[in-house]
Order: sequence, then C-alpha cells, then structure tokens
Amino acid sequence: MAIKKIGILTSGGDGPGMNAAIRSVVRCSLSNGLEVDGIIRGYQGLIDDEVVPLNHRSVSNIINRGGTILKTARSKEFMTEEGQKRAVATLKKHAIDALVVVGGDGSYRGAQVLFEKYHVPVIGMPGTIDNDLFGTDQTIGCHTAVNTALESIDKIRDTAHSMERIFVIEVMGRNSGYIALEVALGAGAEDVIIPERKFNYDQLCQNIVQGNKMGKISWMIVTAEGAAKAPDVASTISKMTGLETRFVVLGHVQRGGTPVGDDRILATRLGARAVKLIKQGDFGKAVGIWEDEINVIDLPKACKRENKNVDEYLELIKLLR
Ligand code: F6P
Repeated sequence: MAIKKIGILTSGGDGPGMNAAIRSVVRCSLSNGLEVDGIIRGYQGLIDDEVVPLNHRSVSNIINRGGTILKTARSKEFMTEEGQKRAVATLKKHAIDALVVVGGDGSYRGAQVLFEKYHVPVIGMPGTIDNDLFGTDQTIGCHTAVNTALESIDKIRDTAHSMERIFVIEVMGRNSGYIALEVALGAGAEDVIIPERKFNYDQLCQNIVQGNKMGKISWMIVTAEGAAKAPDVASTISKMTGLETRFVVLGHVQRGGTPVGDDRILATRLGARAVKLIKQGDFGKAVGIWEDEINVIDLPKACKRENKNVDEYLELIKLLR
C-alpha cells in the first residue's frame, strides 16, 4: 500500500525535545511528498477524533520549546478494546495510512497493539526522560531532565554545605533509576537510592555517623521517586542518626524547559529515520541511537531496558564519597 498521509502523536509523560521530533517528522514527511496530521493528546485524541493537519509552518519556532505542541496524555480508555476500535476508526476517517508514536514504554505497548491487532503501520520514537527503552542509548528528553535536576542540586549543595546539613533529593523515575544515578554522579552526591537495587539504611546511616565523627557534616542523597520518597528517607535518617535532615522533591520541573542540544539533535535524527522507514514500508519498529548510529528494532523488544551502567555508577558514587 502506498503511504500518502501519516499521523503523529506524543504520548505518556512529555519530555523536552518532543517538539523537535514533531518538527523533524513533519518536515521530512513533507519533503518526501507525504501529508501529515497531528493527533492531539496522544491516544486519547485518536479516540476523541482530535486531528489537525500540519504543514511546514505549523512546526516553525518549536525546535527550542519544551513540552509538546500536540499535547500528551496517559489514556486509560485506549487500554480497552472499545477505545482501540474508536482510535482505529479515527485513523480510517482521516485516511491516515501510518502512525508515528513518540513516547515511552507504555506508548510503545499501545503502538504494538495497533500494529499487531489492527494492522496499523506504526513507528515508535523514544520520548521519555526516564531513558529506559531498549535499542537506544538515549531517549529524547533524558539529557535535559538530567541537566535541569543538576542545576537545582547544585543550588542545594550551596546551602547544604553552608549550613552543614544532610539533604535528601527526590528525582523522577517510577521504575527507572536513570536520572537518579546520572545526577548523583554529576552532582557529587554521597549516596543514591534506585528502584533497580535494594537499599541498606543501616549502611547509609553508619556512613553518615562515621563521616560526621570525622568532620564531614553535609551529605546529599539522591532518591528516585519509585525507590523511596524523600520525606520518608529524611525522617528515617534523622531518627537513625539524630542528625538534622532536610528533603527536596524536584518533581515535574524535570520534565519541562528548553531542550538541550543533545535532545534536539537526537529527536531530529530519529524523526528523519522514522520517515525513511515509513517510505520503505518497514513498520512495527522503534528507532533509537546505538553507539551514535541509528538503530532500528522491533517494537516489542524496545519496551524495556535496564540501565547497563547501574553497578558502575553505584561503585563510583561509593568510591568518590
Ligand atoms: O514520563 C516519565 C515520568 O516523568 C516518570 O519519571 C515519572 O515517574 C512519571 O512520568 C510521572 O508521571 P505523571 O506526570 O503522570 O505523574
């Protein structure tokens, strides 16, 4: 089947660089003689028939903007067969022949359902700050999120050091310790708590007390939200050591802001490859970057990856403490 028109949607948690991805897909498609429709609010927009035509100008001045001009959502309705059928009907109604989905693991699973069950030609692009997808060294948004968190943690370090306090800083990552590990290493934190590994409070508190005896009074501990909540960690440390402990939850600031160069460039390169795959009729794939080369793998394989650097990072954080 010759593809004439493609649709693009962003889904799940937004990430800085998603707009650069949309721009790349739209402009590469138009240059290849394909029309493009944008779907608003991810899969929910497909169900609700929220579709807008996109042209060259629709994506002007967005390469440097955080968020996503197409908006995004986590659609519960799309998990149901009824919702999926309505989504497919919207694609048919607008004569959308292929769909590009920019999102994380949940969005990829949704795309796989469309591909496998309803034979919709789909391509996945990795858009999540969590950097937890297989087949790609980085996901769109992860670089900016780490930098954003680092900026805040550097500020916390100033006050932690000046007031000689223990700080627990919670970063995003329900199932992924990627941001926590990166920022712990990049900010020079003393410890990190991640969902991928068990955490030993006795050891942490022993280190703090011992360090304290030797004159080390300020500590920064980074925790991923899915591993332990900062207020709980802070009160546990306080109880176990008797030392004053503060906590900060960085929250959704990590998802916003101007995308850094790495995220824009990644998004732009991957968008171009997504369109190339569509032109070749190669569907059910996810695009990624692997050792700086573009990598294409089957969608189901791309849904989950454990960070391969976990042990190296944990070791280094310990060594540099
Ligand atoms: O998009 C990924 C992510 O930011 C995770 O790191 C986090 O656990 C989750 O989304 C938060 O989702 P929500 O914004 O729906 O609360």
